[in-house]
Amino acid sequence: ATGTLIDRLGRPLRDLRISVSDRCNFRCSYCMPKDVFTKDYPYLPHAALLTFEEITRVARCFIAHGVRKLRLTGGEPLLRKNLEILVEQLAALRTIEGAPLDLTLTTNGSLLKRKARALRDAGLQRVTVSLDGLDDAVFRRMNDVDFPVAAVLEGIAEAQAVGLGPIKVNMVVKRGTNDDQILPMARHFRGTGIVLRFIEYMDVGATNGWRMDEVLPSAEVLHRLQQEFALVPLEPSAPGETAERWGYAGPDGRHDPDLGEIGLISSVTQAFCRDCNRARLSTEGKVYLCLFADRGYDLRALLRTGASDDALISAIGAIWQQRADRYSELRASLPAQARAQRRRIEMSYIGG
Ligand code: GTP
Ligand code: 5AD
Ligand code: SF4
Ligand code: SF4
Repeated sequence: ATGTLIDRLGRPLRDLRISVSDRCNFRCSYCMPKDVFTKDYPYLPHAALLTFEEITRVARCFIAHGVRKLRLTGGEPLLRKNLEILVEQLAALRTIEGAPLDLTLTTNGSLLKRKARALRDAGLQRVTVSLDGLDDAVFRRMNDVDFPVAAVLEGIAEAQAVGLGPIKVNMVVKRGTNDDQILPMARHFRGTGIVLRFIEYMDVGATNGWRMDEVLPSAEVLHRLQQEFALVPLEPSAPGETAERWGYAGPDGRHDPDLGEIGLISSVTQAFCRDCNRARLSTEGKVYLCLFADRGYDLRALLRTGASDDALISAIGAIWQQRADRYSELRASLPAQARAQRRRIEMSYIGG
């Protein structure tokens, strides 16, 4: 369709993260703090959301530019009614460009037990489940809606049983809140085929009251894991990957695939903007070029005023070509004041 598209820093476009709902049934303090996301919060009205047909059309235009991975996010994507119909439409895009298309979803797992099978049948390949602790009390405090950990674990088990995989589990680590869960989580998922990833708490959005002293650097996570487990570094599985991979070693000191691996996502202490090939599509159809962007580029108006596919494709190309975003690399050099005053989009809206 088009030549190789690169942005101003030479980065190609490979990954599209699609937010399908700005709502969530959890209130994780690092994402949707309860006192801000009340019932009076101005969530998007239904008419503002892209329809499944509109999302699929946009995705097709991104694929024409070389996108090879689609991830559904939110908010909580499984709150979007009939999501499996969207999955089916997106799965059908796999055949259009020949190259393999990775189709996945990030969920809090609360509705996964009920929906895993339908999602798999619709063509979803894998899922990533957010889970911030195994201890029920800690987990209920993290989701802040008193949701029990057992229900998420059942969702993960169901996803595994129906063959959605490889499954990843994302744990956001907040020092002093759930860092005592690092080792229990590692023990629990080691040898299960599930990849546990530890995420540094990030300053996304403007409402989570982020403070550097609540970030537990990945180097320290690794240090704590190494007190108990032998770990060896693994090669990245794809360029621009968010996680640094470490494998559990067997008695011979080499990676034992049966024991599996963990990942460290270190946006704060070790930015990975250099190869960032991700674009984000918000629930209402704006393209964001960075998780920390302060503005998006509206595609919905084009979609709803009869623009052709060619017009959409060239609009997307022009947006990507002028991209120079690299917030995580710049964060450290921004004075705290400037950092705090920067306008930022909430993660529940833009899609994690
Ligand atoms: P895989 O395809 O399984 O590797 O997933 P992923 O790591 O691309 O996505 P996932 O939704 O699992 O996100 C993991 C964590 O990385 C979340 O906390 C995201 O917010 C964060 N993340 C994902 N993409 C970016 C990014 O481009 N920049 C930053 N700073 N964080 C990101
Ligand atoms: N810092 C790091 N990760 C976050 N997530 C949500 N908010 C934050 C934050 N402030 C994670 C979720 C989910 C993923 C998409 O993003 O836990 O796993
Ligand atoms: Fe919901 Fe995920 Fe945000 Fe938690 S991190 S409030 S589960 S969208
Ligand atoms: Fe990409 Fe922005 Fe994240 Fe850097 S901070 S990796 S540019 S999304």
